[in-house]
Amino acid sequence: MAVTIPVKEFAERRRKLMDRMAPDSIAILPAAPERVRNRDVLHPFRQDSDFQYLTGFGEPEAVLALIPGREHGETVLFCKERNPEKELWDGFLVGPEGAIERYGFDDAFPIADIDDILPGMIEGRSRVYYPLGKDPAFDNRVMDWLKVIRSKVRSGAHPPGELVALEHLLHDMRLYKSAAEIKVMAKAGQISAEAHCRAMKRARQGGYEYNLEAELIHTFMEHGARSTAYPSIVGGGANGCILHYIENAAPLKDGDLVLIDAGCELECYASDITRTFPVSGKFSPEQKALYEVVLAAQYAAIDAVKPDNHWNQPHEAALRVLTQGLIDLGLLAGTLEDALANESYKPFFMHRTGHWLGLDVHDVGDYKVGDAWRVLEPGMALTVEPGLYIAPDNTDVEPRWRGIGIRIEDDVVVTKEGCRNLTEGVPKTIADIEALMAD
Ligand code: GLY
Ligand code: MN
Ligand code: MN
Repeated sequence: MAVTIPVKEFAERRRKLMDRMAPDSIAILPAAPERVRNRDVLHPFRQDSDFQYLTGFGEPEAVLALIPGREHGETVLFCKERNPEKELWDGFLVGPEGAIERYGFDDAFPIADIDDILPGMIEGRSRVYYPLGKDPAFDNRVMDWLKVIRSKVRSGAHPPGELVALEHLLHDMRLYKSAAEIKVMAKAGQISAEAHCRAMKRARQGGYEYNLEAELIHTFMEHGARSTAYPSIVGGGANGCILHYIENAAPLKDGDLVLIDAGCELECYASDITRTFPVSGKFSPEQKALYEVVLAAQYAAIDAVKPDNHWNQPHEAALRVLTQGLIDLGLLAGTLEDALANESYKPFFMHRTGHWLGLDVHDVGDYKVGDAWRVLEPGMALTVEPGLYIAPDNTDVEPRWRGIGIRIEDDVVVTKEGCRNLTEGVPKTIADIEALMAD
């Protein structure tokens, strides 16, 4: 199923951003730079998320300029020219004409001419929005363009007086996902869910953590999701307690759990799922007890994802269930209120319950407005991912608990009534996991 953001939606985003900009301003945004992997081999190109959001244009060596009120066109793209000889080696280039025809820009020029053209577009504008401080090389280019204008002040040129970070305006827009974006994210979630199911089924054969990683990649690629949204985490046994474990090279052991945190990227949108399951297909009593606590915490947090609740409410809900669970299992002493107040749960749960999700796995958008947590609104997408991690060297607990790491993570979108789970296609109850693995 092809799911694509319509060209018209990119144009609407550019319009909306220009409506939020000062009227006599200009916004300048570069495509992502290409990165050398080794010698003459480049890393696979991934477009800059902000540039992707405003253009849908997937090539490097491009710059977008938004110039509200410009008579000859308000949206301008600088990009590589078509070149049959180069295209024979490296593939199709859209070219400036194609950029206008296919991507809906008002005007387009060869990137090679940007130094001659862009200073003239900046001249007379009082404010320049750009990703200030993100890439020193681009900062220098902006300074060079400004110097060109400043060198002409005696001939009456007006250099801009203000340089402003673009992110503040743009990232608030990115926080609210459109119906088309949610459709792509749902598809990414569905592919990732299928990949987790495949990895679960493979686990009973044993082997190495990377054998499960291979199953994930197989399903992602099979559906045209050519990249992961972040390096996959496949941690068997105590490796599940290492939050960003990506070595994925240890043997899988019968009797251990394995924690997989992995998601594909589709049309630059991330999915982000974690499941934890027994290599053998059967949870031990200790694994079961801890798992039920994490699962109850995740349900409680998902229940708290609804309009008018604030960002921290799902985290607070998860924290209460996790902490009470630790007390009930004898892993933590004292009362719930004391444990929450003195944060004695922290050795077992040291991260937050989620993050915004979108073009970036840890997506943009403010979590607080001033001093207050952000209120949840329809269209906001986030993860819900509580966990419990009993360090293998934690001598404060009985040995039977040590080295168990559990996290359960789904991707949800706030709706009018509550939220929609985009990743429910992979089981998470003990019964459902054991049934899938026995299959
Ligand atoms: N996989 C990164 C995260 O869950 O935040
Ligand atoms: Mn994750
Ligand atoms: Mn996450």
